[in-house]
Amino acid sequence: MEPLAVYVHFPWCVRKCPYCDFNSHPLKHTDNFAAYCEALWRDWQQQHNDADLTQHTVDTVFLGGGTPSLFGAEHMHTVLDRLGIHSATEVTMEANPGTTEHASFADYRSAGVNRLSLGAQSFQDEHLSKLGRIHQAQDTLSAFEQARKGGFDNINLDVMWGLPGQSVDEALADLNTAIALGSEHISWYQLTLEPKTEFYRRPPLLPVEDTLAAMEKYGLELLAEHGYERYEVSAFARQQRYCQHNLNYWSFGDYVGIGAGAHGKLTTSQGDGLSIVRTQKASQPRLYQQDSALTQNYPVKEAERPLEFMMNVLRLVQGVPRQLYSERTGLPWHTVQASWQRLEKQGLVDPERCATTPLGLRYLDSVLAEFMP
Ligand SMILES: C[S@@+](CC[C@H](N)C(=O)[O-])C[C@H]1O[C@@H](n2cnc3c(N)ncnc32)[C@H](O)[C@@H]1O
Ligand code: SF4
Repeated sequence: MEPLAVYVHFPWCVRKCPYCDFNSHPLKHTDNFAAYCEALWRDWQQQHNDADLTQHTVDTVFLGGGTPSLFGAEHMHTVLDRLGIHSATEVTMEANPGTTEHASFADYRSAGVNRLSLGAQSFQDEHLSKLGRIHQAQDTLSAFEQARKGGFDNINLDVMWGLPGQSVDEALADLNTAIALGSEHISWYQLTLEPKTEFYRRPPLLPVEDTLAAMEKYGLELLAEHGYERYEVSAFARQQRYCQHNLNYWSFGDYVGIGAGAHGKLTTSQGDGLSIVRTQKASQPRLYQQDSALTQNYPVKEAERPLEFMMNVLRLVQGVPRQLYSERTGLPWHTVQASWQRLEKQGLVDPERCATTPLGLRYLDSVLAEFMP
């Protein structure tokens, strides 16, 4: 049986954060969670049949959003039951600290969720307020404590840095709080201004380059000092508690995506080569619920595969063995050999593995530019 990664999207939030470009919509009283869960079920059944996934067992599940924790444990139980996740090794759920009824952590745990990802963002109320968050620092601290009591021994904290008006000390104080909580994993994201967001339309004053460089330098040192291994650009794990689901994305693996706007990627043999197709569901929850079969298919052309592959695997600090390139893209290594040699001469990539050097990781955008079709 082949292992399968499944992403499930929950498209609602209490309020839209001004920096966020995820497919998330402010919750209205007419939105119906039970109907949405039914649509997820139809979507799953259809994709399962179409792609003949009977030879696969679900290995990792990521319940992402939006804010999945708005749905409550009972709906989550139904969704997970129908996916048949009994074989899954990792089932992650994203939770906004402002939406978790603490009593329900144990219920999420019994529904099959075994990894929690809390959107802390910052531990300073002033910054949370500027980010338009619905929660305060104290909410994250108590959600964390209650999650531990509810049986979660694998918790990620999302923390952002480079916030409007943030000083180096404030960014490091946020990391120190996350470290003191002792989460198994920290996702430490630099705030970016994404098109189609409120922050993009009306940009806040962000820290200057020198301040950002200092935040990054000292932040990376602090995480390392406390045993958080950087294994991907923004992902840090203690005691090898890596996110298995994301490792599959970063290894250019396949996955099924269900839910409004969810993406998937499926590879099949075709003659001597491989066919790689990316899928995307309708983004609007209402449209998705009307017809969960509605899917856009985007075949990944051979010319696009080198960049797509490198964009994922070179985010991993250790990269991947070279042979994975041909296994996952269906192309021989010599299709990237010339680019690789140029980058190697500049000290940006590893001579043996398909990986960057520490310098290459710092200048990842320039490295990736070599693989543009
Ligand atoms: C889907 S959200 C996580 C769960 C939940 N919706 C929440 O915000 O609490 C994924 C994470 O991406 C990060 N993120 C979102 N927009 C970002 C941006 N513009 N720049 C950097 N990180 C961002 C945040 O840390 C956020 O927690
Ligand atoms: S709560 Fe999370 S998904 Fe929702 S708008 Fe804010 S950052 Fe985006």
